[in-house]
Amino acid sequence: YRIAVFASGEGSNFQALVDAARNGGLGASIDLLVCDKPAARVVQRAQDAGVECHLFTPKNYDSREAYEAEIMEVLESKNIDLVVLAGYMRLLTSVVVDRYAGRLINIHPSLLPAFAGKDAIGQALEYGVKITGVTVHFVDGGMDTGPIIAQHPVPILPEDTAESVSHSIHAAEQQLYPEVVSWFAQGWVQLEGRQVTVKKAD
Ligand code: GRF
Repeated sequence: YRIAVFASGEGSNFQALVDAARNGGLGASIDLLVCDKPAARVVQRAQDAGVECHLFTPKNYDSREAYEAEIMEVLESKNIDLVVLAGYMRLLTSVVVDRYAGRLINIHPSLLPAFAGKDAIGQALEYGVKITGVTVHFVDGGMDTGPIIAQHPVPILPEDTAESVSHSIHAAEQQLYPEVVSWFAQGWVQLEGRQVTVKKAD
């Protein structure tokens, strides 16, 4: 079962997936990193892990469709089964979304549908919620709107700071994302309309 990760930044989720794949906890291999920021830390992580990179600079293309068509060729040539977005800071067009429908997932640092979009942790703190968390969901054409696969709560306590909440959120993500990806690798995830069911074997 072959996975491509799309990321733009730090890559702590990419690293968690690579580590899980190495430990045999994923039941899948991380075969490709797709990154729109050639200088991002995640690119260094991929090189250290020996994961092939497809790097591109969006402004060198006429349209999003143009660089996504190129990405699609790489995904298909490598027979990628599942596309995993991990801090990929761009919206995808139908070029990728349609072709990978049901095989394209994202992780978002809030309990969706609350606090979609940028700086979800900042939004949650500003709003004053006492519980936030992490959501893994299918990607559709919208911003953080696809069917929800799994969520994990993270409390916000009076003594918390932006930094401590962000730390707890990342810890939750690094637990949840490899687990969810392993469900896909085992064929446990089913999607019908907006309803997602996970049938774990005993
Ligand atoms: C994560 O918080 C993820 O939920 C969001 O972007 C962040 C990426 O962090 N979509 P990292 O690059 O994996 O460290």
